[in-house]
Amino acid sequence: MTTEKKRRIEFGDFQTPDDLANQLCTYLHQLGLRPDVVIEPTCGVGAFVLAAARAFPEAEEVRGIDINGSYLDRLQERLAAEPVTPKVRLDQADFFSTDWQSITQALEGHLLILGNLPWVTSSTQGAIGGTNLPEKTNFLGFNGFEAMTGKANFDISEWMLLDMFRWLSGRRGDVAMLVKTAVARKVLAHAERQGEPVVNALIVEIDAKKHFGAFVDACLLVIQLDPQATPSYDYTILKSVDDTGGRRVGHRQGLTISDLDAFSACSFLVGQSPQKWRSGVKHDASGVMEFTRVPGGYENGLGEIADLEDQYLFPLLKGSDIGSNKDWRSKFVLVTQRTVGQDTAPIRVIAPKTWAYLEAHATQLDGRGSSIYAKNPRFSIFGIGDYAFRPWRIAICGLYKALRFRLVGPIEGRPVMFDDTVYFLSFDTEEEARNVLNLLQSPQATSLLSSLIFWDEKRPIKTSILNSLDWSRFGDSDQTQMTLL
Ligand SMILES: C[S@@+](CC[C@H](N)C(=O)[O-])C[C@H]1O[C@@H](n2cnc3c(N)ncnc32)[C@H](O)[C@@H]1O
Repeated sequence: MTTEKKRRIEFGDFQTPDDLANQLCTYLHQLGLRPDVVIEPTCGVGAFVLAAARAFPEAEEVRGIDINGSYLDRLQERLAAEPVTPKVRLDQADFFSTDWQSITQALEGHLLILGNLPWVTSSTQGAIGGTNLPEKTNFLGFNGFEAMTGKANFDISEWMLLDMFRWLSGRRGDVAMLVKTAVARKVLAHAERQGEPVVNALIVEIDAKKHFGAFVDACLLVIQLDPQATPSYDYTILKSVDDTGGRRVGHRQGLTISDLDAFSACSFLVGQSPQKWRSGVKHDASGVMEFTRVPGGYENGLGEIADLEDQYLFPLLKGSDIGSNKDWRSKFVLVTQRTVGQDTAPIRVIAPKTWAYLEAHATQLDGRGSSIYAKNPRFSIFGIGDYAFRPWRIAICGLYKALRFRLVGPIEGRPVMFDDTVYFLSFDTEEEARNVLNLLQSPQATSLLSSLIFWDEKRPIKTSILNSLDWSRFGDSDQTQMTLL
């Protein structure tokens, strides 16, 4: 990697185009933001500094700070030709070692913290040997950034945004930042948990591919804080600055709701799923445990043809098969146990060729990283139990951006297994499975589930969401009758 590339990654460097910064600042002014002082804490070459100085004529001061001195020099040159120059002040500083609270305390009036923070995660910093991270500090009485963000890997913009709540503590002020949409949502959830005095919040989606060449869901996050007012943690997601409607997002009944209106209309279905959604088989060794049937035997992922008994082989549909509704591709998986922790030694007697195959691949199987394998019988797998052997299932892939349930019956007389990206319910009869599928596909169930899904997430469909739909409640409601007619 070139030094320049490493620097760009470490400093999360994606400079905002001037036209986008101008458009967003004009939008913020139209929203009614009237700051006395604007702070751009990682201003780079200054698109937001210039745009804010123009869009907020009432502001007495616009401050730009960046760690990169050459960016500030470039901004200084750009400012030379600008009438707004006298109210702009630039400082070179490292965000993480700046005493922001002292700075903001010395400023009077309404503050707007504006800009576009570095786009980099702590784990990427680890991978490239980057040091552009917060030092282990005592924040909110906890130690270190893991405590602050609740996890080992986080976007450094998330840490920076949480820090800004401290700078604004006890005073009215606004934050308007370009960030990943997932970060914006986490910060808003954190604000609610911490009881920050949020009076209004918006997420305005932006086209990150067009403006930054980045394949990520990004947005302008706007948070308005006022300790004198009653806080409100519902927020609006707008498709663009031209979207005048938007959908309301918030938290209800311990759930994060992506569309409050749709949720309220169908909230009678919220409860506990009558059957727990399960994930498919987990074995962490697809090269060894998964096969395609070929003339002469079963070909594993390593290209070897194995001669195996049928007893422990089950038809397999992968997440991609379920997600894109593909037919079965003659794939099989070796299911060595019927329940978690079951002794595997009997395989040696019941299916000696299968046992010989497992022993021949013991290096890969015994070397599986997770400690759960070390604590269980040799050649163990997970994601099994009585439920995994019922013949009929309703399946959905967690990785696909579509709410598409699929009915799966036995293949060659055997229950079908899935990989662990698939979630499923299982049934003894086709009739039971079809009845539940009808309920899951009803307009109300679809609407409720859709109101809980955030499609920009990596695994948008989660068991926690599926498990919150209690389809047995269809029987309790008049609306049910309408649905099922
Ligand atoms: C995503 S770019 C955005 C720049 C500018 N805010 C804009 O909107 O064009 C991130 C900026 O953060 C700056 N930066 C990264 N780490 C920093 C740190 N620790 N302290 C201050 N600035 C930092 C980089 O130099 C870069 O200019």
